Amino acid sequence: MVARPDKPIVLMGFMGSGKSTLGKQLARSLKLDFADLDKYIESKTGRSVQEIFSVEGESSFRSLEGQYLAELLNRPNGVVAIGGGAPCNDEHIRLIKESSLSVYLKISVPELYLRISLSQTPRPLMAGKTGAEMESYICTLLETREKYYNQADIIMESDCITPDTLLKAILPSV
Ligand code: S3P
Repeated sequence: MVARPDKPIVLMGFMGSGKSTLGKQLARSLKLDFADLDKYIESKTGRSVQEIFSVEGESSFRSLEGQYLAELLNRPNGVVAIGGGAPCNDEHIRLIKESSLSVYLKISVPELYLRISLSQTPRPLMAGKTGAEMESYICTLLETREKYYNQADIIMESDCITPDTLLKAILPSV
């Protein structure tokens, strides 16, 4: 029998931690809808994340993240992958804790660096940085963000989280 969680499952973690890829597979296994907060913001505003950052600035993007995160968490269930910065303020993490089962995909800095540098996804926060600058930025930013990520209900710490290990970690809680 397929588990039917009675609240959304939120996947959080740094850029490149595999939230969207694993989220889609998890949703398929649990026969739930999948939503990606960045894609949702793009479909609602008609602008890309990159455009919002460059035209309106990061703080406007963060407000949109808050507004649309609340909308997605208002759904009865489903799997939601959220951008790396989305849980990183007191209001957003409170909302996530209150209304979802949250999972932190905890990946090491060298692996994040590797994945981000190989990725084709445009990431405004990484734009224009050399490899060394990027690695040191990941370290610093991750350090400031972990106090939020570490509040997740489930923390999965591995550089090779598979759809199967994720599903096994979540099943007892749904
Ligand atoms: C961001 C992460 C991105 C996207 C935006 C900002 C961040 O999403 O929301 O570029 O602040 O970490 P991913 O974590 O899916 O790359």
